[in-house]
Amino acid sequence: MAFLGSSFANATREEREGLLSRIAHCLRPGEGFLVSADLDKDRETLETCYNDPPGHSAFADFRLNYLTRLNSRYGAGFVLDDFVPEAFYNEDTSTVEGHLRARAGRTVPVPGLGLTLHLARGRSVNVGYSAKFTEEQLAREVGAHGFGLRARWLDPEAQYGLFLFRRAPSAPVVGRA
Ligand SMILES: C[S@@+](CC[C@H](N)C(=O)[O-])C[C@H]1O[C@@H](n2cnc3c(N)ncnc32)[C@H](O)[C@@H]1O
Repeated sequence: MAFLGSSFANATREEREGLLSRIAHCLRPGEGFLVSADLDKDRETLETCYNDPPGHSAFADFRLNYLTRLNSRYGAGFVLDDFVPEAFYNEDTSTVEGHLRARAGRTVPVPGLGLTLHLARGRSVNVGYSAKFTEEQLAREVGAHGFGLRARWLDPEAQYGLFLFRRAPSAPVVGRA
């Protein structure tokens, strides 16, 4: 089984636990789990990577698109200009978070979901999640589900890597399928 493009890191820690549990149930002893991961690095590098440089808006457009989708799909009343898209590194969770911050207090109806949202000025909503790992953290997290690290390939600057785990012959399966 393979998770490429560091997509595994777009799940929260709790979601990854569930994913790993299901993956462990799906694989037989000796079968492989190949996962790519962006390795943890300094805040400046990460925040530069996840925010638009001057004159560009790809990340802003990507984050604001969540509101566009809520408007079109659920009849929500978000005004895109009311929100500032931004990303920052959360050191406590080793995660880059993509946010939308309300410029002013707003009450937004979302009729399709039967909701009315009250957003205070400055309230920030997390719309994206990209975890960063040390090699040890990744090996520990995946290893807890009965996998052993068999090989790994890093780029020359050890910024990111590809990790091959194998299901151990008689490892306990943690959690439920
Ligand atoms: C938009 S980035 C997202 C990266 C990461 N999931 C994150 O949240 O920051 C997409 C990633 O997929 C990788 N990618 C794209 N096509 C790929 C392919 N065919 N095989 C493996 N990786 C691929 C890119 O190199 C890039 O790292």
